[in-house]
Amino acid sequence: RPRVLSGIQPTADSFHFGNYLGALRQWVDLQEDYEPFFFIADLHAITVEQDPKVLRERTLRAAAQLIAMGIDPARSAIFVQSQVPEHAQLGWVLQCLTGFGEARRMTQFKDKSAKGGEGAASVGLFTYPILQAADILLYRPHFVPVGEDQRQHLELTRDLAQRFNSRYKKTFRLPEPYILKATAKITDLQDPTSKMSKSASSPSGIVEMLDDPKVSAKKIRSAVTDSGSEIRFDPEGKPGVSNLLTIHSALSGRSIADLEAAYEGRGYGDLKKDLAEVVVDFVTPFRERTLELLDDQTYLTDVLRRGAEQAGAVAQATLRDVYQRVGFVAAG
Ligand code: TYM
Repeated sequence: RPRVLSGIQPTADSFHFGNYLGALRQWVDLQEDYEPFFFIADLHAITVEQDPKVLRERTLRAAAQLIAMGIDPARSAIFVQSQVPEHAQLGWVLQCLTGFGEARRMTQFKDKSAKGGEGAASVGLFTYPILQAADILLYRPHFVPVGEDQRQHLELTRDLAQRFNSRYKKTFRLPEPYILKATAKITDLQDPTSKMSKSASSPSGIVEMLDDPKVSAKKIRSAVTDSGSEIRFDPEGKPGVSNLLTIHSALSGRSIADLEAAYEGRGYGDLKKDLAEVVVDFVTPFRERTLELLDDQTYLTDVLRRGAEQAGAVAQATLRDVYQRVGFVAAG
């Protein structure tokens, strides 16, 4: 079976709707027909300072959320990045293939280091996309389900794969990003021209999957809408309303056209009220299931250990090829 692989950082207490609709929902769907590898990117998380205790908690919360949303440990390898040391090992080899200028062109570094200035950012934040390329290439996946903000990292990944293949020997598959157009960029409820983001959004702009459903309902009802009163999908002219329609359509399964027709002649308040209900119905069972799973940490660590074993077997085989091709002497 063709493979899929993707990862998510454990840098918040909860995943948000951007993560879920932009990427995680596709993980759940793709696990049916592909051989899936899904991981929690704790190595990436420490590119900015993390409290060790909080990082450990959030990593387990991430695992619980993935399982609660439908990633099936019997079908998918779910693992923690740091438990498979080959990620960091291949990361080094790929760093040595990446030009400094090439790394500099990655826009997320510019965005994320903007606050404290480039000098205050860690070197790890700078080389972050190269580690991500290693994460992906180790598993030779066909598809990488992500949101739009990861597209540039996928392009770097393909460039590095091609470079390694032509400098040494064909080793890596060139992975395709799997980005669903409709939900590729979920935007901030308070600032609907920017993406919903755990680092950049204000709390009222971001809907967290594990928040009290009442709080999420309130955030939806207070979302910024646009001038005018017509409920129409028009991301340029009506970014706020369009984002709400996108979220509604993704959760309710109704097409945008169907929703536009249903809200003809009605006001923004109606749409927000209905969407708040759709959101509450969706997050309530998810939250209960996650909290139940968090009560059984032995089960979670067991799932992660098995996932790391499955992933490790694949990663070791790839790294062995890489080391041999680069010219490293194998241990006798
Ligand atoms: P992260 O942890 O920031 O986000 C996880 C996934 O959620 C998607 N996403 C969004 N999609 C649509 N709209 C939004 N507002 C939104 N916000 C987040 C992201 O695109 C991502 O798919 N670098 C990655 C983690 C990573 C990774 C990898 C991913 C590390 N190694 C290898 C794929 C393959 C990241 O920071 O995602």
